Amino acid sequence: MSTALTPAELTAAFTDHFGAAPDGIWTAPGRVNLIGEHTDYNEGFVLPFAIDRTANVAIRLRGDSTARLLSSYGDQGVATVDLDTLSHEAMSGWTAYPLGVVWVLRQQGVAVGGFDLYLDSTVPTGAGLSSSAAIECAVATAFNDLLDAGLSAEELVLVGQRAENEVVGAPTGILDQSASLLATDGHAVFLDCRTQEAKLVPLDLAAASLLVLVVDTKVSHAHATGGYAARRASCELGAEVLGVAALRDVDDEDLAEAAGLLDPETFRRVRHIVTEDARVLQTVAVLDDGGPAAIGALLLASHASMRDDFEISCPELDLAVDTAMAHGALGARMTGGGFGGSAIALIPAAAEAAVRAAVTAAFASAGFTAPDIFAVSPADGARRLA
Ligand code: GLA
Repeated sequence: MSTALTPAELTAAFTDHFGAAPDGIWTAPGRVNLIGEHTDYNEGFVLPFAIDRTANVAIRLRGDSTARLLSSYGDQGVATVDLDTLSHEAMSGWTAYPLGVVWVLRQQGVAVGGFDLYLDSTVPTGAGLSSSAAIECAVATAFNDLLDAGLSAEELVLVGQRAENEVVGAPTGILDQSASLLATDGHAVFLDCRTQEAKLVPLDLAAASLLVLVVDTKVSHAHATGGYAARRASCELGAEVLGVAALRDVDDEDLAEAAGLLDPETFRRVRHIVTEDARVLQTVAVLDDGGPAAIGALLLASHASMRDDFEISCPELDLAVDTAMAHGALGARMTGGGFGGSAIALIPAAAEAAVRAAVTAAFASAGFTAPDIFAVSPADGARRLA
């Protein structure tokens, strides 16, 4: 895991490359989703929290129509584009995220002109922790500020989602951008994805002597291709056959009838969404009642539903979950879109060393790539840093 450049270091790197100091530095976090997976585009409920891994962008407005973009990701060098002739093909690799946001803002009438941008991110890519949303939200927040565009956080969420959907080509919902923009330290974001109404739910892991461990399986996923879009299509088919606007409108009691109307695979997809929405609501209630120590069984049930009904887990994620559970975790589940990425385990802080060692050993003996394991706690959302 690379460490973040400090604001002073980022300013120095920017100035070194672009010949003048940036106008400012903005930051936005990645996220883990505590529970509520694939429910967002079904207009249901999610409960993510922001993590202390962030995308930081230094930006300077130029006064012409040229954008120059550079990142500390490595070897790619400066990407230079003319915003007035910006085509979708010109937005590729990591630059699709910042340029996608700029493209959407311009479509919405925000007069983004030329700029220089330097990105530094500590959100691992392809790990299911929303590295792309972190970039989108940092950039959207920056231009909203710099140009006094007056967009609300909820509007910025939709800007990021449009960039993802229309430029990157991933048919994702609003989970990731909402977490990155709306989160606060010490809280999870309980979001109704139909109304975009968000409520901050206290999540004080330390007070309960707990922590959330992320196991990045290193199995890389992409949502612009394959399984994610197929799951979304199944959900849309299910809603259409059941005659509802979105699967949010199907409840537990409707499921018995749905079984007779849907093919078995679509039924399982629908059952995951319906039961997952219910689990999010239960998790919020249980957190309120008994605190984080009481939500373990719900996390585990969510994982089983994703593994068996939605079929988006993989052997590495299952092994991470099973091993954490066998070594003292209260609950564990894959988090994010699936098909790879990360699992989270809710564990007593005292069990950290044992769980880490057990998961590492289990991956080694299964012949899997060594996972990256680290603790996360609920952090602040997007904001100006300097
Ligand atoms: C990805 C998407 C989100 C959401 C999750 C699954 O992270 O970007 O919109 O659908 O998968 O919950």
